[in-house]
Amino acid sequence: MHAHGTAHLNLPPGQTLADFDFAFQPAIGRSRIETLATCAFIRAAETVLIQGPPGVGKSHLAVGLGVKGIEHGFSAQFYRFDELKIALKTDAHLPPARLRRRKYLSTSLLIIDELGFEPMSREEASLFFRLVAYRYGRGSILITTNKSVREWTELLAGDEALTTAILDRLLHKAHVLNIKGRSYRLRDLEHTLGTVRS
Ligand SMILES: Nc1ncnc2c1ncn2[C@@H]1O[C@H](COP(=O)(O)OP(=O)(O)O)[C@@H](O)[C@H]1O
Ligand SMILES: [Mg+2]
Repeated sequence: MHAHGTAHLNLPPGQTLADFDFAFQPAIGRSRIETLATCAFIRAAETVLIQGPPGVGKSHLAVGLGVKGIEHGFSAQFYRFDELKIALKTDAHLPPARLRRRKYLSTSLLIIDELGFEPMSREEASLFFRLVAYRYGRGSILITTNKSVREWTELLAGDEALTTAILDRLLHKAHVLNIKGRSYRLRDLEHTLGTVRS
């Protein structure tokens, strides 16, 4: 599962790491992002988990790291979790040989954006487990989420055994970024409110 030169992300522009204002979000250690930007985590098939409230730059960093991966010659695929869920359900009965060729299994870096907006059904949780188990040791997963790991059982249809099995694999070799900061989307509003108040 290595370099595929032709693979590309179909993504909004302006979300590279060079466009990221680290001064705005000091909670994100710039050096940690620079370490991830070497793409050693992709080579080692490790996980990146980016947690935090809306607007703090989770998706931007995910896209930026995906772009870096491609610059380094890796393949990368970007899915919002709700899109991935539909693909997993559609493909649930494919024979294994065909399933393995699906991009979410074959790509070097799988980006899953916005995990956790709605709880999964039992079927969805078990398809997600199958994905994580297949990629474990084979390919990287980068997840952005608004949920802390403590809330994952609830997210995964209340199934503690399944949640443990998923987290065990995901967190075995993981880089966890917990972003506790201001929303970049609301920064203008902050200014406006500040002006109104003063
Ligand atoms: N530190 C930052 N520097 C530059 N742009 C940022 C920064 N944080 C967020 N943004 C921009 O703000 C918007 C919201 O960020 P996004 O990554 O979508 O947040 P999240 O995924 O955490 O909700 C995007 O347009 C993103 O490019
Ligand atoms: Mg986002």
